[in-house]
Amino acid sequence: MKYPIRLDKLISQTTDWSRKEVKRLAHKELITVNGTVEKSTDTKINESDVVVCDGETIGDLTPRYFMLNKPVGFISATKDREHLTVLEFIEEPRKDNLSVAGRLDIDTTGLVLLTDDGQWLHRVISPKHHCVKTYLVETAKPLDEKQIAKLESGVWLNNEKTRTKPATVEVIDEYHYRLSITEGRYHQVKRMFAAIENHVESLHREQIGAIILDPDLQPGEYRALTDSEVASID
Ligand code: URA
Repeated sequence: MKYPIRLDKLISQTTDWSRKEVKRLAHKELITVNGTVEKSTDTKINESDVVVCDGETIGDLTPRYFMLNKPVGFISATKDREHLTVLEFIEEPRKDNLSVAGRLDIDTTGLVLLTDDGQWLHRVISPKHHCVKTYLVETAKPLDEKQIAKLESGVWLNNEKTRTKPATVEVIDEYHYRLSITEGRYHQVKRMFAAIENHVESLHREQIGAIILDPDLQPGEYRALTDSEVASID
């Protein structure tokens, strides 16, 4: 934010109120600057000024962090022309400021993180931070020992110049595996299984770093992350 800034610009940029609504609220004497009612919306505001609009302190932009249990059929982006996005489930002010940290395909379910803290988001998705993501994979065919070893040591994906980084595979039963990877290449899990001539029937993300999908969250439900979950991404 560049100060000084017009009162209506400050409020419309940091809240869901439009400039027109700000004008109306000012007219109704619902805006104060440093405790004094301010009716003129072109007043210049400095960084140290305390602006309150209809009871909401403006500029109080404490970063927000959420986990969502994504159902099938939603895009884990925040805007899409064709499909509904995960923002459909989020009921928060300024939800358009949120970004998804680590996307899932439309048919993948499970843990999605949303935040408006750009640095934290970067730490989740940047390969440098080696943030482990764990997926429950249902396969079309059972895996043999050799295929598991291949997945763990790294496979060549179509059109990629490097092998996938080492991964771990836990066998749940012959059609279900828990795969942990540190990268986030495009359709990575599905392509890893395609590389060993198998096929992913369904995919569910259970964990990102130390953040485990809360078992109390039904598909489509979300909650704020706890302080320790937020701090676990470093
Ligand atoms: N890998 C995939 O192939 N799809 C996802 O949604 C996530 C990881």
